[in-house]
Amino acid sequence: MLVPRSVPAVVVAGNWKMHVSPDDAREFLDAFSPRRGPGRPQVAVFPPAISLLAAVTSAPSWLAIGTQNIHWEARGAFTGEVSAPLALAAGATHTLVGHSERRHLFGETDSDVARKTAAAVHHGLVPTVCVGETLAERHAGRVSEVILRQLDAALECLAGQETQFLLAYEPVWAIGTGETATPQDATEAHSVLRHRMREQLGDRADQVSILYGGSVKPDNAAELMAADDVDGVLVGGASLDPVSFVRIVDAAPDR
Ligand code: PGA
Repeated sequence: MLVPRSVPAVVVAGNWKMHVSPDDAREFLDAFSPRRGPGRPQVAVFPPAISLLAAVTSAPSWLAIGTQNIHWEARGAFTGEVSAPLALAAGATHTLVGHSERRHLFGETDSDVARKTAAAVHHGLVPTVCVGETLAERHAGRVSEVILRQLDAALECLAGQETQFLLAYEPVWAIGTGETATPQDATEAHSVLRHRMREQLGDRADQVSILYGGSVKPDNAAELMAADDVDGVLVGGASLDPVSFVRIVDAAPDR
């Protein structure tokens, strides 16, 4: 479990999407050996559900394992879905919610994301709530409006709770495209999110790590993580190879 502190922890997380079989997960974790020690970042990976157990049983104790998505109900006739209690029973401690691929390819709405966030919190999984604008929304000058709308929906169920959660700002146009937001773009969006969290959550907002995601690679990770208000990264493609993911984790600043 990632531990809450008075400054946001640096977190480096890998979203394996629909890659990495159980055998691949074991092989990855055998080879995955970033620099550890005081001040080093917290690290998490999000395998596909089918590989979760393999990852949990091969992971070192410092590595958090999470699901990429959960259903808001605890159980029932929901073919193909995984609930928070099932994820917890398999050893997950974290979950992504509202990843842009869920929103844009599978039609998840803000209210679905809010229900999933509430379910994660209720059952004790730490949610990483993902927000981000499309290119058209950016060009229309709507970045703040869109990410605040997405944040507000999730905050409704987080505001009254003493619970831990993370945010990930992932501009849709930067995911899997090789287009990265500049550190300044990331800082601007993150400070908008931080400001709104302070309004809603008070001092607690300063403990929430805000990760940047979208074409993070070994070569741009250090610069992004050095930017103001960027407390780590959520990495897709470059987290699939242990060598590349180690370079990203090792590029995180000490905190
Ligand atoms: P990417 O994906 O690093 O491959 O752009 C990031 C994500 O979708 O979380």
